[in-house]
Amino acid sequence: MSHPSHPRTVLVTGAAKRLGRSIALALAAGGWQVAVHYRSSEQDAIDTAAACARLTSTSAHFDADFEDEAAVRGLLPRVVAHFGSVDAVVNSASLFEHDNTATFGFAALEKHLRSNTAAPVLLAQALHQHVASRAAAGEADAQGAVVNLLDQKLWNQNPDFVSYTLSKAALEAAGTMLAIALAPRVRVVGVAPGLTLTSHMLSDEKFAQLHALSPLGRSSTAGDVASAVKFALENRSITGTTLLVDGGQHLMKFDRDFSLM
Ligand SMILES: NC(=O)c1ccc[n+]([C@@H]2O[C@H](COP(=O)([O-])OP(=O)(O)OC[C@H]3O[C@@H](n4cnc5c(N)ncnc54)[C@H](OP(=O)(O)O)[C@@H]3O)[C@@H](O)[C@H]2O)c1
Repeated sequence: MSHPSHPRTVLVTGAAKRLGRSIALALAAGGWQVAVHYRSSEQDAIDTAAACARLTSTSAHFDADFEDEAAVRGLLPRVVAHFGSVDAVVNSASLFEHDNTATFGFAALEKHLRSNTAAPVLLAQALHQHVASRAAAGEADAQGAVVNLLDQKLWNQNPDFVSYTLSKAALEAAGTMLAIALAPRVRVVGVAPGLTLTSHMLSDEKFAQLHALSPLGRSSTAGDVASAVKFALENRSITGTTLLVDGGQHLMKFDRDFSLM
């Protein structure tokens, strides 16, 4: 995907912990240099970057609050300044705060849209500008890729986490528009996990029951999601579509969000 004269570099957002960390480690194991983005989990980000660096040549961590447009706009240039160039962005960072149709309001929607929609779109825009500038500087085959983490619940809706769901639905639509607009230099692919990791709202026993609730008898693991992200980044033909990695949960109907079942 990238110019053969330099190692491939990927920015993974929200990579200090949980799914973002698994994605970062899987990419590092595949030879990618990883820029680990975080907002507040600095020590976890340092640990993730160190673990990535043990797998590949180098890694570094970068903070940015995605509710702050200037911080988002500044992020990719900081990564480019550190690594020299960037080939891919994985938009995994996400705000996930509960609201429903009774509690919904502008404030909740706005902060979910900033973090979960506007920031990923700005990072895709920044990657495209960077790749185009590399091409203009003589790197004729400069290419980039963006992976947006979505959610199986877009295909299996319920009225919990309304603002989160709207922000991810907008990101899914943005993926189509960006795939058209950023071609041929940058591909844009969605990866939609099912229930993968537990939350503070679920006991371990309840999580295990819900994880098994899928046509395949098991939803996604962090490893499943990370390998789908790696595949999407490395397959040169895929753009403007979404890989649902969820054990088929999107084929079922759930009346409530998993965390409230
Ligand atoms: N986990 C699942 O089962 C599941 C299921 C379906 C879809 N997904 C999707 O997969 C992705 C990863 O899931 P996850 O469970 O690992 O996510 P998560 O733990 O809920 O959040 C990941 C990180 O996002 C960062 N973040 C939140 N708000 C931010 C902001 N305003 N600015 C910058 N960073 C912010 C946080 O970083 P700091 O800790 O540094 O503050 C957090 O650690 C998400 O996009 C999610 O929607 C996950």
